[in-house]
Amino acid sequence: MPAKILVVDDELPLERLICQQFRKKIRAKELEFIFAHNGLEALDKLQVDPHVDMVLTDINMPEMDGLTLLERLKEFEPKLKTVVVTAYSDMAKIRKAMNLDAFDFLTKPIDFQDLEITINRTLESVQQIKETQRQLQQVQTQLIQKEKMSSLGQLVAGVAHEINNPVSFIAGNLCHAQDYIEDIIKLLHLYQENYPDPVPAIQEEIEAIELDYLTEDLPKLIGSMKVGIERIYQISVALRTFSRSDTTSKILFDIHEGIESTLLILRHRLKASGDRPAIVVIKEYRDLPQVECYPGPLNQVFMNIFANALDALEEAIIKGTIEEVPTIKISTEMRSDAVRVLIADNGIGMTEEIKSQLFAPMFTTKPTGKGTGLGLSISRQIMEEKHGGQLTYISAPGLGTEFIIEIPIQQL
Ligand SMILES: Nc1ncnc2c1ncn2[C@@H]1O[C@H](COP(=O)(O)OP(=O)(O)OP(=O)(O)O)[C@@H](O)[C@H]1O
Ligand SMILES: [Mg+2]
Repeated sequence: MPAKILVVDDELPLERLICQQFRKKIRAKELEFIFAHNGLEALDKLQVDPHVDMVLTDINMPEMDGLTLLERLKEFEPKLKTVVVTAYSDMAKIRKAMNLDAFDFLTKPIDFQDLEITINRTLESVQQIKETQRQLQQVQTQLIQKEKMSSLGQLVAGVAHEINNPVSFIAGNLCHAQDYIEDIIKLLHLYQENYPDPVPAIQEEIEAIELDYLTEDLPKLIGSMKVGIERIYQISVALRTFSRSDTTSKILFDIHEGIESTLLILRHRLKASGDRPAIVVIKEYRDLPQVECYPGPLNQVFMNIFANALDALEEAIIKGTIEEVPTIKISTEMRSDAVRVLIADNGIGMTEEIKSQLFAPMFTTKPTGKGTGLGLSISRQIMEEKHGGQLTYISAPGLGTEFIIEIPIQQL
């Protein structure tokens, strides 16, 4: 984008002179000039065009002079840099302008070389301020996300750890319980063989408790408890894999394990609930080598992208714009020196307008409380800055979205 300069002057020839003087830079799209003929017009132009980088203004003008304009700018656009132009003899006005925070001044008649130097100097300063602001915002985003993730990570790791003990003693005891129950049932059968005609009280009780059914069902019941406990155990392992914030350096990691542990955590969102159908997950995993990476942050990227896909599917279901089965498709593949993970949903998709801001920190289309708008900006940062990888996407409204995560196998 060219740097945009608003020139405010009531002398028309200046407009032509400036266009002529800077025609090369204008053609090369380095500079763009817009013109106003007095302070009032300048304020109007600034209202409709928020992207002006600097203002170059004459002081003596009809309707609203340059000093009044400066006063207004100081109030409404304090960050906008202004250079004033006036006769050298007008030292008093120049001083006044400088006191109103003008960035610099030029004297008339304008020396174009001087003008160019002043413009460059001013734009450099504008650029510097923008860069500092960008950095500040980035640091702020990182801090918020780090805080969010480290407390989430700690919580998850803590819960996983706490669950582990009770799970292992239930699992251990269940095995014994199964043996004991089998013994008791065996003994019961022995009794039944040797005492086929129990007293009426026992006979009645056998019928009341449906002994046959009970002895058949009890081992099955224990079996399904074992399956359940095995599943809890796997979840706790997955939680620990997911929150692996333990590594400060890169380690070799199985990407599929990362994807699976993240999916396990999100499993409750895949199931059907109320009117919402279940979300189908299709996996196309190809053989992949282990990858050198930070597992915790990488899982965080998977998490953010899955969560977005689920939101997009839910939105499409609510709006009734989805005709096929709501699906998330995960594929992995090798590219000469990188691994790629493709995560596609057939949800709501994105308009051009959303796409243009997608990775901007704090950009969200979700209601307050639901989205912070940090998920993708932090994910891209994790991919690019931490892993030297990439995060790209393809999307169209109504058709869905595919995110492509690319991780170099070996990091430099
Ligand atoms: N798979 C997707 N399909 C459709 N829109 C998406 C998808 N992924 C992201 N978006 C759009 O991009 C926006 C920004 O996503 P991002 O993950 O950065 O923030 P968020 O999901 O709104 O909030 P959070 O910080 O909780 O992740 C979303 O609000 C949504 O509009
Ligand atoms: Mg998100």
